[in-house]
Amino acid sequence: MTNRVYIFDTTLRDGEQSPGCSMTVHEKLRMAAKLVELGVDILEAGFPIASEGDFEAVQKIGQEFSWAHVAALARAATGDVERAAAALRPAKRSRIHTFIATSDIHLKYKLKKSRQQVLDEAVAAVALARNYTDDVEFSAEDATRTDPDYLEEVCRAVVAAGARTVNLPDTVGYSVPEEYAALIGRMAKALGDSAVVSVHCHDDLGLAVANSIAAVQAGARQIECTINGIGERAGNAALEEVVMAFKTRPDRLPYQTKISSEHLYSASQLLAQTITFGPQPNKAIVGENAFAHEAGIHQDGYLKERSTYEIIDPKSVGVPESKLVLGKHSGRHALKQRCQDLGFELSKEDLDHVYQRFTALADRKKGLRNDEILALIQERQAAAAAQ
Ligand code: KIV
Ligand code: ZN
Repeated sequence: MTNRVYIFDTTLRDGEQSPGCSMTVHEKLRMAAKLVELGVDILEAGFPIASEGDFEAVQKIGQEFSWAHVAALARAATGDVERAAAALRPAKRSRIHTFIATSDIHLKYKLKKSRQQVLDEAVAAVALARNYTDDVEFSAEDATRTDPDYLEEVCRAVVAAGARTVNLPDTVGYSVPEEYAALIGRMAKALGDSAVVSVHCHDDLGLAVANSIAAVQAGARQIECTINGIGERAGNAALEEVVMAFKTRPDRLPYQTKISSEHLYSASQLLAQTITFGPQPNKAIVGENAFAHEAGIHQDGYLKERSTYEIIDPKSVGVPESKLVLGKHSGRHALKQRCQDLGFELSKEDLDHVYQRFTALADRKKGLRNDEILALIQERQAAAAAQ
């Protein structure tokens, strides 16, 4: 087994389906371009049966980013799988991701189906999907609350039917690292080289990243995650956190991804501009305060030697060179550079407007923080759109 871990980004699917996060097709395309630049291995672009918009987004992302590996979600049902296949037709590298719940709670109250029925439907969906693509992923929804013997039976059956990736989601964010690692270890051993074991963790107990990492240590080789950790309820594992954990602690976590970490901050910023909220200020890696040093003792240590209080070089995740405010003495060039760092390539005219407002404000205040500069950019964009 190699130490390469595949990053499956579900910002545009699990992330997008949560409150305040819906995106238009155009916004999904813009975000997809950033995810491709970031180097995600698989980009889950939507749930085509769910809406026309999702269908179109999957189709257009497959068309526009022909070199990217695009996935579409489908319940384990004929109509869903066919719709996902149709949306993925333009994609050169496509994956159908089909799922069904396997826990007794879901079987009894939601699906009202027996274990045998669920197993048969899972196998049928995978076999159908294989008619459209060689690359089929199966997810056992609520895997962490599923009887492990039954889960293993389902995993073996879907792999025999042609699934190449088996995802074992902690759908309700209920598991704890040791427990999740044991479950993943058991399934990885059962499947051996026949499939990649994937993990998909929700953050209801704040353990999504810890669980994902524990699972990789136990044999998983794909992590499903989202930018800024957005997703159903408390969200999914944050992509930037798992990636930077591997990059910062290779002594303990000797795993490699293909992510170009210097694009993490701009990906986070672009998402924040697209949906209705950004990461909280103290969010690891991409939060406004993640590299800010306020306390006197910290500032003193940091100024003497950066590593006293900083374990990650902000540049390595694309955080603008200075997290300090941009002051009234900062010129147009510095402002232009900061806008670029924040993910905005402004035209000369837009830059002129933003610069005018910037100097007026910077004169009155002590300087402007990134969020205040972003507000100026947004103000200009809104004014230009209204013209
Ligand atoms: O959380 C979950 O179980 C999911 C599946 C559809 C993969 O999002
Ligand atoms: Zn999920």
